[in-house]
Amino acid sequence: MSTTKGSLFTPVDINALSLCNRFAVAPMTRVSANEDGTATERMARYYARFAQGGFGLLITEGTYTDQAFAQGYRYQPGMADEAQALAWRPVVEAANRHGARFFAQLMHAGAISQGNRFRDGTVGPSAIQPRGSQMAFYYGNGAYPAPVAMTEEQIVEAIDGFAASAERAVAIAGFDGIEIHGANGYLIDQFLTDHTNRRNDRWGGDTRARTAFAVAVFKAVRAKVGEDVPVGIRISQGKVNDFTHKWAGRERDAEVVFGTLADAGVDYIHVTEQEAWKPAFDGRQDSLVTFARRYAPKLALIANGGLQDVSKAEAAVESGADVVAFGKGALANPDLPRRLSAGRDLALFDPSILGPVADIKAREFAS
Ligand SMILES: Cc1cc2nc3c(=O)[nH]c(=O)nc-3n(C[C@H](O)[C@H](O)[C@H](O)COP(=O)(O)O)c2cc1C
Repeated sequence: MSTTKGSLFTPVDINALSLCNRFAVAPMTRVSANEDGTATERMARYYARFAQGGFGLLITEGTYTDQAFAQGYRYQPGMADEAQALAWRPVVEAANRHGARFFAQLMHAGAISQGNRFRDGTVGPSAIQPRGSQMAFYYGNGAYPAPVAMTEEQIVEAIDGFAASAERAVAIAGFDGIEIHGANGYLIDQFLTDHTNRRNDRWGGDTRARTAFAVAVFKAVRAKVGEDVPVGIRISQGKVNDFTHKWAGRERDAEVVFGTLADAGVDYIHVTEQEAWKPAFDGRQDSLVTFARRYAPKLALIANGGLQDVSKAEAAVESGADVVAFGKGALANPDLPRRLSAGRDLALFDPSILGPVADIKAREFAS
């Protein structure tokens, strides 16, 4: 572990919200809510540990947005009604008490839902069977079924779900900001992706047309939470069911996706790749972080993916990131910022923490 040069320890603002440093905990689904989607005491203690460990920003696990098709996993938390939002409140308060800001990640699973207690079957932009297979550590098994193509009414319902959930997250739960989950193969990414979106209405077509759903979700969220609350969106090429997917239009797609979101008025973009420092496209030098900085020059930028080696995290800041999010590195080191500032080595990630099911283990909240 190289020693830190310190840029990660400087404060930074997203919209008007100040973060005490540039260390964020990446969103990580831990299927540890009650069956009804309410957050638990165990979750409060798990998240608080990262705040105590010095992270300036925490982002929740993907939290479902409606009582229709949004839920992806059994025991996933929701923001789809008042009871779910109220249950998040002590979780947020515990993190805030230790000095961390806390953003709610809002997620609609779409075609890759593998557990939904409200509806049978799945929906997506088009009736195309998802690639890959369901994740056993989230209680999944076998292939994903083919979804039903969403009607216009279902699309509007999904957008309204994001907006109403964002309002609950801020007004009831007390979150400091909203992250729209536009990455990793879930519904918004299904609209962004050429092979899962074959629509020829206003929600499909070329890359710009395929951003229409993301933009509509963002605008609906913004209308509910107002200008002062930070609202960002997470974007990736790879998907949980298709890790190696690359944008066919390469840099041109990056320009359209990041540029369109910037024009729409998002406060930040959270870029994630398996290994975020690597070139985004074969034969090019630039990473997706660099492209996001180039085509969304004024936005705050969060970088994520394999950056737990601090020299890589520092390099991400040098290539334009304002904040670096840590996933597995944070699971292994809930006190990662404090360890680094004390010059202590980081622990290696132990995959057994996520098995056989990815729920929060007792050792993750023991003090
Ligand atoms: C157990 C686990 C659950 C995850 N759940 C989510 C999620 O709910 N939302 C999301 O955007 N990304 C999720 N991710 C992806 C992480 O946020 C992150 O992008 C990934 O782990 C790569 O970053 P890292 O190398 O720092 O771990 C999850 C990752 C892990 C390991």
